[in-house]
Amino acid sequence: MTAALTSFEPPDRDQALVALAQACDGCRRCTLGGSRLQVVVSRGNPSARLMVIGEGPGAQEDEQGQPFVGRSGQLLDRMLESVGIDSNRDAYVCNIVKCRPPENRKPTALEMAACRPWLDQQIALVDPGVILLAGSTAVEGLLGIKGGITKLRGQWRRGEGVSLEGRWLMPIFHPSYLLRNASKERGSPKWLTWHDLQDVQRRLAQLTAPL
Ligand code: URA
Repeated sequence: MTAALTSFEPPDRDQALVALAQACDGCRRCTLGGSRLQVVVSRGNPSARLMVIGEGPGAQEDEQGQPFVGRSGQLLDRMLESVGIDSNRDAYVCNIVKCRPPENRKPTALEMAACRPWLDQQIALVDPGVILLAGSTAVEGLLGIKGGITKLRGQWRRGEGVSLEGRWLMPIFHPSYLLRNASKERGSPKWLTWHDLQDVQRRLAQLTAPL
């Protein structure tokens, strides 16, 4: 995207994000801190207007220390690219939990709650206009809404509460689900996600249009 898709950079924002990453590195707020290889904080552009939030690191992410770098991350990147969004230039990518849950299980409610203050700080510092929630765990972790992603996806939600007020939230299918459902036919999960992402791109364009 163009520079217009990035927000104003407060002078100390980058320093605060470095300090946050260092603090996460020493975090033992839940037991996941004891079994991870590396803490996985973020990748991408902290000045982007779009934040992508997934569930939690998998094996590749745990090894490399970056979110969404395995197969589902590669699919996420391609899908974003198909609507003109470069995940490293136009988005800030992170997860509900920053440490890999053993066997890639879903993080527990306690683990999500323990990690939430870090995520709230990231949201405050990056200040995204639009947040893409990849999968039902991201929706549950951020909004406390439990339910099938099939019903939740594709519907804009307006953020409420301190860290989300004024932000637009869009739930989508998790890319790992799309890897298991490869059809691109009309009405398929991939087809629907492509439409959801087009909607996201339109919203970003509106947010950055000159007044
Ligand atoms: N799945 C996620 O939800 N996040 C990652 O970082 C990788 C896979």
